[in-house]
Amino acid sequence: MAYESFQEFLKRLEQEDELRHITEPISPHLEITEVADRMMKSPGGGKALVFDRPTGYDVPVAINTLGSRKRMSLALGVCDYEEIAAEIADLIKPEVPAGLVNKLKLLPKLGRLATIPPRTVSRGISQEIVLTGDEINLDRIPILHCWPQDGGRFITFPLVYTYDPRTGKRNVGMYRMQVYDRRTTGMHWQLHKVGAEHHRQSEEMGQKIQAAVALGGDPALTFSAIAPLPPGIDEMLFAGFLRRKPVPMVKAKTLALLVPADAEYVLEGYIDPYERRPEGPFGDHTGFYTPVEPYPVFHLTAITQRQNPVYPATIVGRPPMEDGWMGKAVERIFLPLIQMMVPELVDMNLPVEGCFHNLAFVSIRKRYPGHAFKVMNALWGLGQLMFTKIIFVFDHDVNVQDIGECIWRLSNNIDPERDMLLVRGPIDVLDHASRAVGFGSKIGFDCTKKTAAEGYAREWPDAIEMSAEVRQKIDALWPRLGL
Ligand SMILES: Cc1cc2nc3c(=O)[nH]c(=O)nc-3n(C[C@H](O)[C@H](O)[C@H](O)COP(=O)(O)O)c2cc1C
Repeated sequence: MAYESFQEFLKRLEQEDELRHITEPISPHLEITEVADRMMKSPGGGKALVFDRPTGYDVPVAINTLGSRKRMSLALGVCDYEEIAAEIADLIKPEVPAGLVNKLKLLPKLGRLATIPPRTVSRGISQEIVLTGDEINLDRIPILHCWPQDGGRFITFPLVYTYDPRTGKRNVGMYRMQVYDRRTTGMHWQLHKVGAEHHRQSEEMGQKIQAAVALGGDPALTFSAIAPLPPGIDEMLFAGFLRRKPVPMVKAKTLALLVPADAEYVLEGYIDPYERRPEGPFGDHTGFYTPVEPYPVFHLTAITQRQNPVYPATIVGRPPMEDGWMGKAVERIFLPLIQMMVPELVDMNLPVEGCFHNLAFVSIRKRYPGHAFKVMNALWGLGQLMFTKIIFVFDHDVNVQDIGECIWRLSNNIDPERDMLLVRGPIDVLDHASRAVGFGSKIGFDCTKKTAAEGYAREWPDAIEMSAEVRQKIDALWPRLGL
């Protein structure tokens, strides 16, 4: 199901008893964080919150809207997001079935793909009010100052639209924006991200780059912005696929760009080549502050908005947080696509506490000596998985979703000197342990059973298990044992 707007999604959350309104005045300076952090750390991710009266503002703040498995699934219009993973797995199956009847069964699948390209419309709620020149004022929006040592207020849930200056292809990414003044912000697109590449290209051409920032809209768009899609794949196409309906786009008011028609706000503006300003510190999703670094600067040329907007926000910090639920949905939905490239991969678990890019437990169907090392290298070569600092590779029959089982297996199965692979390469720029920003080392452990072909001369022991016959007998007896 597609949502017409972010506020329609909020209504749905209310109907599902997934949202609470807070009518008490609470300040966007630290206080909203404290309330939201407690909620995000409650079992199952708590409820979405709408602060109806943020102190000093007449615009409500919505937060934690995607912060549970149920809300993340509702956002994508499904009962559970595993349905999307199954659908993608089905869509990318290479075989064309035999027989006319079976071929005809493919048609609805293909029809689904035809509905996805974005559609240009003449008007949208995102442009009900258009503010330009001196009317541009970010101070009217209840942008959060999240943590005590933050360098200021940060827009934390923005969808940043840029276009490749050479090919014209669109990219949408979520990159936080520090507010410098009423009409200027930072643009925290990290080194390895597509927005940064568009900017580098525009710098090489000596041009400014236009950018539009949407706040709100159908949450399928928000999910698409954080999804690690390969460069060149349009996030709005992916959003159209998820919502089963084209994303409506409208011409920007001060830019030669298309912007979403359904957003609460759109910030229009540009980034000059070579201009940098100190950005940060910022309490980040690692649970630590990221330090001040030079980042590009976004100059607003317009704010467009709907009549009565709600400001969508999130906070990041020590896990678990709202972004953990978004990350888990990415992990599940992208697994079939990763399996296309790494077919021996059975399952993967990027634990929330490992901040996703720090730690991966994966299981594989091992077929040859050194197979686990091949998989580590494959994952380190695959998009944003290149940031994975520690990878543990297990056999196919290990449940990598069970961390207790992983620790039991890995601590028993590894001979560290033999089973470890240490490599150097790109690292997430948020990593504070690496020797340099964005460059460091990564390690993988082969936790699979070793074979003679791998130089293991002994018999690998079986894990202890009771025989099925005895288990069944005791199952039947159990109720009579009075335990
Ligand atoms: C809440 C949240 C905040 C994020 N902030 C940033 C950020 O400030 N800079 C950044 O480069 N990536 C940030 N990300 C991650 C990117 O959105 C993500 O890597 C995305 O896939 C990037 O898109 P791209 O590949 O099109 O560049 C954030 C993700 C979330 C969920």
